Amino acid sequence: MKEYQVVSNIRVYEYTELTDEERELVDKAREMTRHSYAPYSHFYVGAALRLRNGKVIPGCNQENAASPSTICAERSAIFAAGAQYPQEPVVQLAIAARNEKGFMQAPIPPCGACRQVILETEHRFKQPIRILLACETGIHVVETINALLPLQFVEESME
Ligand code: THU
Repeated sequence: MKEYQVVSNIRVYEYTELTDEERELVDKAREMTRHSYAPYSHFYVGAALRLRNGKVIPGCNQENAASPSTICAERSAIFAAGAQYPQEPVVQLAIAARNEKGFMQAPIPPCGACRQVILETEHRFKQPIRILLACETGIHVVETINALLPLQFVEESME
């Protein structure tokens, strides 16, 4: 038997420790929870990503009575960016969520499907994406999706 460990590095920042650009992104993700369409879960997720050209692209979850048709906040932002700026790498992605009681106390990491899409976006542009998970107790930051999705299925996996 062999064993190996997968270790992820996660930094937790105070809001005041972030750069102006990062604060702008976190603010936008929080604001986008107000645009969320979540009549079924009442769980309102906002996302905002920054492209290399500096543009900020927002997103939020959009639910549907046929639940698999729902799209998460992260993918809504990434796909919107891909549609509007197909050549621009994504460099940062902020995520925030709240329920009816307010913003979450713990970070809300992206779901498995979103992690896979973030991974493909990193590979597509050969650009790591800094992910900022904003919650009331701090901003949890990883430098790449590798920290959240360590064993990966990618195009090369099929070769
Ligand atoms: N949701 C997101 O928007 N992002 C995630 O990473 C987790 C889940 C949304 C989907 C659905 O509208 C609601 O949260 C409850 O699952």
